[in-house]
Amino acid sequence: MSDARREAARPASVRISGWGMYAPERVLTNADLAKLVDTTDEWIISRTGIRERRVAAPHETTATLAAVAAKRAIAVSGLAPDDIDLILVATLTPDYWMPATAALVKEAIGNHTAAAMDVMAACSGFVYAYATADAFVRGGMYRNVLVCGAELLTRFLDFSDRNTCILFGDGAGAVIVSASDQPGGGMQGFELTTDPDGAYMIWLPSGGSRSPASGETVGRGEHFVRMEGRETYRFATKTLATTAQAAVKRAGWTLDEVDLVIPHQANIRIIESVAKGLGLPMSKMFVNVDRYGNTSAASVGMALAEAVDTGRVHVGDRIVFVAFGAGFTSGAVALEWTAEPLHGRRARDVVPVASVRAPLDWDSVDPMPQRLRAILDAGPPVPLDDVAPGELDEARARGRGTDSSKEVSA
Ligand code: UT7
Repeated sequence: MSDARREAARPASVRISGWGMYAPERVLTNADLAKLVDTTDEWIISRTGIRERRVAAPHETTATLAAVAAKRAIAVSGLAPDDIDLILVATLTPDYWMPATAALVKEAIGNHTAAAMDVMAACSGFVYAYATADAFVRGGMYRNVLVCGAELLTRFLDFSDRNTCILFGDGAGAVIVSASDQPGGGMQGFELTTDPDGAYMIWLPSGGSRSPASGETVGRGEHFVRMEGRETYRFATKTLATTAQAAVKRAGWTLDEVDLVIPHQANIRIIESVAKGLGLPMSKMFVNVDRYGNTSAASVGMALAEAVDTGRVHVGDRIVFVAFGAGFTSGAVALEWTAEPLHGRRARDVVPVASVRAPLDWDSVDPMPQRLRAILDAGPPVPLDDVAPGELDEARARGRGTDSSKEVSA
């Protein structure tokens, strides 16, 4: 695109026009985990605030989770799938090393025109991808960018390691970042940081060029997430508040003008410490870590969608997204909310299923971790939370929500 054409295409503002989330149906409680590792419900709640998390079904993949959240976000925006010009999927648990998960999501949402790529910044991925989308639209290159954060972490956890397996869960969140002819609103400030001193504080050792996957690496359990919990905790509590402050300062706001913070949902103690660091009451911090655990790159997108659909977000509100993760990365976006929150109802009719193209002449192994499968096979799920506004009563009446297993092909 020429400079003149790009200049002409620059929008008056860049705004969120749609949002959506998807949490798999199956709930994994702390009591379930206490059957696998030496832990207790009381320990997990007091140290993390997590009561339960979701586990994707065997037929689901990161791409199918992302596609359901994306279809909801597109419905809320009122756009057609082919209006999306670029698809960004933030994830550290892709379907494959290649192709990009975003390429699979493109087909699953029925888009024929968009460019598609993944963004890898671990738990900060959604915020990094959001800032990237804003830049594409602000620069006049694209009008509508789909940003997904999606994770299927339960397939990358060692369910005999109590330090990690209690923390993480599966899910996806999505927003549509759109050009607007109306001035004002949208992202007003941002901050993205990376500190390689923390490179090996949360990592997955094997499967990359340094240590390709082999029987030996699998035997050593190097295909699972490893984490130095205390160091990560220290980094998070030190960095989240300063990253958020930097974004707020760039927006030209003061902290007391912030209406709602949507923090990465890693640990309630970390969120409380950020609130303290920012001098904000906990009533201004959105929290859903108790129900979904840490969903890494999905967490901010899921929390945002839930915040809007539960009436916590109003037109004109000043909102801050802030996250941290492996790398160590951190990121924050300060934005003014402009979309009508009731448009969330438009997602009501989107069925929570997605069909992703399967490879030819190749079958995957059973993707479920064996230790987890034994627990899951033992009892039924109790899903009540993964509903669009207005669906709750219906879902309660159904008792088990929508059984998507027969409709999804992955
Ligand atoms: O998106 C970023 C992802 N990572 C994070 O956000 C993690 C950040 N870190 C944390 O959230 C916390 O450090 C944890 C929740 C992981 C751990 O809490 P902590 O208060 O820092 O505990 P700790 O690591 O200091 O461990 C205290 C004790 C240890 O026993 P000893 O050595 O004192 O005898 C651990 O072995 O708790 C033990 N422990 C557990 N006990 C019961 C560790 N995990 C568990 C467990 N159940 N699941």
